[in-house]
Amino acid sequence: MSNMGKHSNTGEVVSITNHKGGVGKTTTAINIGAGLNMAGKNILLVDLDPQANLSQSMGIMEPPEANIYRIIRGEAPVTPVVILPGLDLIPSTLDLSGAEIELSGEIGREYILREILEPLRGRYDYILIDCPPSLGLLTVNALTASQEVIIPIQAHYLALHGLGKLTEVVEKIRRKLNPDLKIGGILLTQYDSRKILNRDVETTIRGQFPEEVFNTKIRDNIALAEAPTQGMDVFRYSPKSYGAQDYGALCGEILTRNGHQRSKPGNIGKHSNNQK
Ligand SMILES: Nc1ncnc2c1ncn2[C@@H]1O[C@H](COP(=O)(O)OP(=O)(O)O)[C@@H](O)[C@H]1O
Ligand SMILES: [Mg+2]
Repeated sequence: MSNMGKHSNTGEVVSITNHKGGVGKTTTAINIGAGLNMAGKNILLVDLDPQANLSQSMGIMEPPEANIYRIIRGEAPVTPVVILPGLDLIPSTLDLSGAEIELSGEIGREYILREILEPLRGRYDYILIDCPPSLGLLTVNALTASQEVIIPIQAHYLALHGLGKLTEVVEKIRRKLNPDLKIGGILLTQYDSRKILNRDVETTIRGQFPEEVFNTKIRDNIALAEAPTQGMDVFRYSPKSYGAQDYGALCGEILTRNGHQRSKPGNIGKHSNNQK
């Protein structure tokens, strides 16, 4: 694909991925998007899940003409919906569930989303892709379009197993399709420190992925589940909740890590001098 290896000062494309459902992908996409937006960043959210939870959580109940399915098929212009100043959304629709099969025979099928998003990168600081709960062609498209992947997981032993599979896929995509792809971070979600299992799994996973696991954990917090029913992010719904505190801290960590420090040990959580 045309000279995409070149570095330019354009937006980071970040996939929020885990093939397991219910781990907090959509919640993370909404609240990182909102939190970074409150920090003054221009954000585009891309709903790549046919279940369209992200779109619905942002108050888009009926998909507009320019939904991700029609855009991927080349049938609609790339016109994001403006949710708030500096926070745009490309909504999804149930039709997207047919896309994997429809696109499977196309040449360059892994690069479709990358080509759609590339011209938008100049307009945004971050483009966040909320992935479906699978490792199919849609997720492959998201990872091929991204510089980073954020992996939300629940602190269960089974999650560790799934994580191995997912990091293998990330590695394979880096080798074959997208050399720029990095693990931006592994995020512990729905965390309850009273549960010994949660604490044990945290220790194991930090041991296995010392650089990748975010310092910030997202606690189990009801405000995070309630906010989308009101079409709100957690900062607007309940600014003092644990959910708002945790996603606020995570956004701070993302901004500090600056997306390019991941490979150097010892930088996590520290302020890096003078980037930008
Ligand atoms: N930290 C949390 N505390 C409490 N509930 C949460 C938390 N994170 C997510 N949820 C809830 O758990 C369910 C699954 O989260 P969701 O973000 O939709 O996961 P995914 O997109 O991975 O399927 C949703 O009902 C959501 O509101
Ligand atoms: Mg989801």
